[in-house]
Amino acid sequence: MNITHIVGGSRLIGDIWVSGAKNACLPMLAATLLTSDACVLRNVPILRDIQTMLEIFRNVHADVTWLNHHTLKIGTSQSDNRFPFEYVSQIRGSVCLMGACIGRYGHATVPKPGGCRIGERPIDLHIKGFQALGYDVKEEKDLIFISAGKLHGATIHLCGPFGSTMTGTMNVIMAALPIPETTIIKCAAKEPEVIDFCNCLRSMGADISGDGTSEITIHGGRTLHGYDHTVIGDRIEAGTFACAALATQGKIRIFGLKNGLLSNFITTLSLGGASIFHDFDHIIHVESNGPLSPLDVITGPHPGFPTDLQAQVCALLTQSDGTSTVEDKVFPRRFLYVNELQKMGARIQVSEGKATIHAPTSLTGAMLQATDLRASAALYIAGLCAKGETCVYDTHHLERGYENFCEKLRALGANIFQSNTNKA
Ligand code: EPU
Repeated sequence: MNITHIVGGSRLIGDIWVSGAKNACLPMLAATLLTSDACVLRNVPILRDIQTMLEIFRNVHADVTWLNHHTLKIGTSQSDNRFPFEYVSQIRGSVCLMGACIGRYGHATVPKPGGCRIGERPIDLHIKGFQALGYDVKEEKDLIFISAGKLHGATIHLCGPFGSTMTGTMNVIMAALPIPETTIIKCAAKEPEVIDFCNCLRSMGADISGDGTSEITIHGGRTLHGYDHTVIGDRIEAGTFACAALATQGKIRIFGLKNGLLSNFITTLSLGGASIFHDFDHIIHVESNGPLSPLDVITGPHPGFPTDLQAQVCALLTQSDGTSTVEDKVFPRRFLYVNELQKMGARIQVSEGKATIHAPTSLTGAMLQATDLRASAALYIAGLCAKGETCVYDTHHLERGYENFCEKLRALGANIFQSNTNKA
């Protein structure tokens, strides 16, 4: 079992580069199924979830080649679509295989996706979207069967109880591509990863407009060819490092993220008194001005405060100067990590999707269990500002979504290392 050891107390100082965005990259990998041409994807982050997606492609006999450290070439001309349950069920991004597969072949049999334990992860909106286009969808145990009925363009509302759906929007776009009519998605997800995904599809020849707004229009029936696309930087990784720097009273610059992609987060932390801004050269400057003032944070779909930074900001707010609240309106049950922070002395109560954080708290190192990807990052942040040594077990959760996280933290001055016990 891998354990990460963090000895708290070092200020983070220096420069880091963020990797490519996992949540843009996974659907783009799925989109290679839309064409028999080879596709080249650049700035691919080296992560466990990406490796899992590539295992799926190798299993269906796609041609997967690393051209260099972060550049992939994938050809699916010889591939079948017998997707392996073992891998598809490990990650959420695999849900996009459905849209990609029906976009190419008109039918698909895909195991249900997995993903982090952060509450309900239904796919009813994806299915509703496919059905509105004329696809027949059947669910049987762990499998989804999709076949083409009489396909037609449609106006589809993708609004769920907590707003739109990111992977659902991308899936319905792909399912609409072969239909030579117009499809309009209302209440579409507006996340930067959706825009980057649409840029990638446009480079294949797709006719899509309106991405980045709540209404996306697809004129289907265009012939699609291979793409050569560079994935955008990871805004969640950037936000995670910003939280880590502020929690340690540090000063860092973050490179690799286009200006404007993290605005709500930056404005929120500025309101708390942090010196943080994203300049026109796309560099984020982060400097602590002492403990933050208390904040009331509410997550929401983009351009709201990202749910994927909720846990990290909670860890940071244990060091603020008073009582803060953090409410998750996208995944209200995404607070499993709070038990672990409490072992370090954090005073946090969670009720109905809202955490109340009493601060400041002097955290003490402890033995902690990582529960999911972003929760792991929150535990690392808490460890960085705690007294003594923190040991985090089950680091594979973190490796799903952060490339070289420990190495990057160490380069900023963190006292962090990994060990392995041979116990399973
Ligand atoms: N929802 C429904 N029905 C659906 C789909 C979603 O009710 O059919 C609800 C969800 O329960 C949730 C909300 O809609 O309350 C938003 O879910 P969404 O579908 O947007 O999430 P997702 O596409 O499954 C992606 C990211 C998540 C990120 C969310 C929200 C990927 C692979 N995952 O998930 O990333 O939290 O969007 O931005 O793209 C992470 O990286 O740690 C992560 C969990």
